[in-house]
Amino acid sequence: MIKHIGVVGAGQMGAGIALVAVQSGFETSIFEPSKQAQEKTKAYFQKKLPPHQPLFVTQLDALSNCDLLIEAIPEQEALKIKLFQELDSIAKPEAILASNTSSISITKLAAATKNPERVMGMHFMNPVPVMKLVELIRGLQTSDKTYHAVKATAEKMDKTTTTSKDIPGFIANRILMPMINEAFHALQEGLASAEDIDTTLKLGANHPMGPLTLADFIGLDTCVAILEIMDKKPCALLQQYVNAGWLGKKTGRGVFSYV
Ligand SMILES: NC(=O)c1ccc[n+]([C@@H]2O[C@H](COP(=O)([O-])OP(=O)(O)OC[C@H]3O[C@@H](n4cnc5c(N)ncnc54)[C@H](O)[C@@H]3O)[C@@H](O)[C@H]2O)c1
Repeated sequence: MIKHIGVVGAGQMGAGIALVAVQSGFETSIFEPSKQAQEKTKAYFQKKLPPHQPLFVTQLDALSNCDLLIEAIPEQEALKIKLFQELDSIAKPEAILASNTSSISITKLAAATKNPERVMGMHFMNPVPVMKLVELIRGLQTSDKTYHAVKATAEKMDKTTTTSKDIPGFIANRILMPMINEAFHALQEGLASAEDIDTTLKLGANHPMGPLTLADFIGLDTCVAILEIMDKKPCALLQQYVNAGWLGKKTGRGVFSYV
């Protein structure tokens, strides 16, 4: 029975996951090493006024009493493998280790632990409090018990789940990222303005937001990382934005400006 959730990494996604966890009645603790991100998350919680506040911990091993640990650190395989090894050593034996990764192999993260059947993908969408979907990804080693406990937790958070095999990109990004990359190619070619590319998809395909705005919301660095893991070459213009430090909404500037 999952009662206490630990969120590791409170950036865009981790902060949202922690808020939904608190609002759904879970005791919630957060480990976030960056002072700046911590302050941002605390301010976010103050604005949202949940029924109770999460606990901010300063050491990873302060999460050892959690029943479910959800990792939302940057989309870099080596970083996540190292973290899963650490989580495996601090978590209690019956705890579940979940990753919010958009594309990295759950099977590989699980293989980095001594207890791989308790590892699983729990892919929330951005912004977490608004988006109804959680994609569930079973690694090759994930047990039925782990799968059902994570599914029940997502449902208690009032989310709808879909289940994907552990193939890079899973369902959502498998289909979304090639579209986003193609939108950058169209912009690079000068096919149309950024505004017209987005408006065409919004009004022509009934998408709630255009692909360039969506990329800004996801984070352009995250888009590049996901495309690379999916073995797709990121468009040069997309890469250039990332090189410039224009990462999207989170830095105030991407394709569009957010200041
Ligand atoms: N942005 C999206 O739309 C989206 C959607 C679904 C899934 N995801 C996935 O969620 C994860 C996080 O994405 P994000 O957009 O929140 O990124 P982000 O850059 O906003 O946040 C990452 C946070 O992790 C922290 N961090 C870095 N190393 C850490 C460590 N070793 N231990 C603990 N914390 C650490 C950073 O300080 C930062 O606050 C990625 O795997 C991403 O692919 C993102």
